[in-house]
Amino acid sequence: MRVLVTGGAGYIGSHTLLELMAQGHEVCVLDNYCNARPVVLDRVRNLSNRPVTAYTGDVRQATLLDQVMAEFAPEAVIHFAGLKAVGESMRDPLGYYDVNLGGTLALLHAMDRAGVRRIIFSSSATVYGDPEYLPYDEAHPTAPTSVYGRTKLAAETLLRDWHAAHPETCAVILRYFNPVGAHPSAQIGEDPSDTPNNLMPFIAQVAVGKRGALQIFGDDYDTPDGTGQRDYIHVVDLARAHVAALRYSAEHTGARAFNIGTGESYSVKQMVAAFQTASGQDIPCQITARRTGDIAAMQANASRANQELGWKATHSLADMTQSTWAWQSQNPDGYESD
Ligand SMILES: NC(=O)c1ccc[n+]([C@@H]2O[C@H](COP(=O)([O-])OP(=O)(O)OC[C@H]3O[C@@H](n4cnc5c(N)ncnc54)[C@H](O)[C@@H]3O)[C@@H](O)[C@H]2O)c1
Repeated sequence: MRVLVTGGAGYIGSHTLLELMAQGHEVCVLDNYCNARPVVLDRVRNLSNRPVTAYTGDVRQATLLDQVMAEFAPEAVIHFAGLKAVGESMRDPLGYYDVNLGGTLALLHAMDRAGVRRIIFSSSATVYGDPEYLPYDEAHPTAPTSVYGRTKLAAETLLRDWHAAHPETCAVILRYFNPVGAHPSAQIGEDPSDTPNNLMPFIAQVAVGKRGALQIFGDDYDTPDGTGQRDYIHVVDLARAHVAALRYSAEHTGARAFNIGTGESYSVKQMVAAFQTASGQDIPCQITARRTGDIAAMQANASRANQELGWKATHSLADMTQSTWAWQSQNPDGYESD
């Protein structure tokens, strides 16, 4: 299929490009590089040995979108482009709604003008909010506790309304849990431009000597070792979920949400121990106060994705930590190491 990938130069997007091309899909990227570097796509081209057309610009730009639709003529869109920092979203709600909701709106308008009927959307487990029960299934109430989560839920609503008015369309909403890890080549991986917001890149930067110690926010949660537990999903498994969603979108109409996680959860202390084993490095830790809004534990019930998308996570915790370490140690400054 011909697939337009917005935000394709980002962490999850770049891994997804490789999985799409490995399955014979033709890809085209639209990215404004606000959180990525063009060199990522050179690495994707080298790894795949395939051309990747890329347009530089903002997903909210209607004229650019029309140009891409006319020149590339996609049959489906995978929409990664968005802002993802929870803390920043609380300080800049308008900016987050503008990009995350406005970007999705502009894209759907352009898809309508061009007659493109399939979209795969990057949503997040944050749409659920505080757990009423675990594991979360897709029927769990949605009550996001951050602006970021609310922009994702608003975009989901928009997609459902779009589909309701155009029954021939398919919107696949993927609710990601906690993506980690890197490509087995160690050529692409997560490269936060600032202090990492997520645990794994923070641990990796401590291991490689870029940061002094890992702060653990609270060790008095109601979990076996007192630290928070999350459902981590290897980014290659996540990328493959998009390939499965694309296949689904060719065979179905509707607007349907799917949890993309493993169903397992690991604590912060377990992640640190696993990373020490993978890297052979000591990870100094400091216990500090809990962060407002953090919950004790969460994990996905991914059985809908297993059954309906025919997708299942296959990578282990060791795969996650080893691939992260390979990427971080071979690219200590991320893509700036080039
Ligand atoms: N990484 C996570 O933990 C996580 C979890 C759940 C959901 N998501 C969602 O998945 C998507 C991809 O996440 P990621 O981790 O790869 O993030 P990322 O920041 O690495 O990738 C996003 C990409 O979109 C581009 N972009 C941002 N705003 C744009 C705009 N207005 N126009 C064009 N391009 C724009 C960025 O330059 C970047 O290349 C995001 O929508 C994010 O909210 C991520």
